[in-house]
Amino acid sequence: MTENIHTRRLALSVLSRIEKDSAFANLVLRPALDASGLDERDKAFVTELVYGVTRMRRSCDFLIDPFIKKKLHPDIRTILRLGTYQLHWMKIPDHAAVSVTVSLAPRWARGLCNAVLRKVAIQTPVWPTKAIEYSYPDWIVKRLEADLGENAAEEALKSMNMAKPAVHREDGYYQDVTSQLVSDLLTQEGSWGNGLIFDICAAPGGKATAAASKGHPVVAADLSVKRLQLVKSNSLKLQVKLPLVASNGTKLPFRKGQATRVLVDAPCSGLGVLRRRADARWRIKEGDIDDLADLQLELLCSALPLLKPGGLLIYSVCTLTDSETIGVDERFRRRMKVEQVSPLPDPWRKHGEGGMILPQDLDSEGMSVFCYKAK
Ligand SMILES: C[S@@+](CC[C@H](N)C(=O)[O-])C[C@H]1O[C@@H](n2cnc3c(N)ncnc32)[C@H](O)[C@@H]1O
Repeated sequence: MTENIHTRRLALSVLSRIEKDSAFANLVLRPALDASGLDERDKAFVTELVYGVTRMRRSCDFLIDPFIKKKLHPDIRTILRLGTYQLHWMKIPDHAAVSVTVSLAPRWARGLCNAVLRKVAIQTPVWPTKAIEYSYPDWIVKRLEADLGENAAEEALKSMNMAKPAVHREDGYYQDVTSQLVSDLLTQEGSWGNGLIFDICAAPGGKATAAASKGHPVVAADLSVKRLQLVKSNSLKLQVKLPLVASNGTKLPFRKGQATRVLVDAPCSGLGVLRRRADARWRIKEGDIDDLADLQLELLCSALPLLKPGGLLIYSVCTLTDSETIGVDERFRRRMKVEQVSPLPDPWRKHGEGGMILPQDLDSEGMSVFCYKAK
């Protein structure tokens, strides 16, 4: 496998599309693997190459750039990143990583690729910053250090560079363990009772199907009609009844005061799920965070009136910034009459008046959650 050119050629073509067309890594990789005819081991190797190079491209470039004098053609840079990732992160022996990878290059560039990769192979990296060492944009590192503290941020950054598959739920659905913990909070027993549940940001349906398969009556709403199709196919697969409603969560069409539980699993910056979304760190913009926090607050304010007095409202986001999470929670409680339900059970670590799971806590995704009781 380590000498196989087909796997590397496929990885190169997927990476070129991600680079040139700004395509989403998972959306290009899956069909390419399905059409490849490769066996499962080779598919896993291609997946590791594609996601690894995508995540670690800043660190790879730092190792490559000292040996480059002219601007590189994007495909040649991708070939060099592929070689560098195999050498430094996959620990593939030099002869395989270099010679097979160089043979992907057009004839005119092979000399250059060979010379650069041979130098990269014997380099001992001295990383000037954590952002370069762990391959993140500077702003993400600064923001997480400011919000989580330096040590927790560093552990989170390291942890989100390690691939980890989602786990099967009892009913067969693939879902990360932290999302399952949010579903557990949503369906927990309590004074709010077992009536109707609204999930107002429901797609692709992970948490809504979990609640429905435990026998709760759930209505799944989402802004995106296209994404609601995913909820539909998931609910059909799992054979659960899940009425779907296309609606902007800030202008919900539902009668007030009829639900016992509402979930706002809101759109967010996703800084807790960077291990799953390999290219996300290069797409998210710091400037989006405040807008997302404002949207989350609006969604919460619009969701609360759906509840009967004493009903349970859950606000969750798969991110780790304070402005989303704690900031939204404080603004929400200042604006609306709610009672906080806290502290949250283990393994949630205390985060303001709510809970957080960092990616390193359970070797999972990062998630924050706040629970309220409607007055
Ligand atoms: C984090 S995802 C939800 C994940 C889902 N709860 C699950 O467990 O599978 C956030 C969802 O919010 C939806 N969304 C974004 N803006 C929205 C809005 N204004 N109103 C309702 N849904 C919105 C997105 O389409 C996306 O499906």
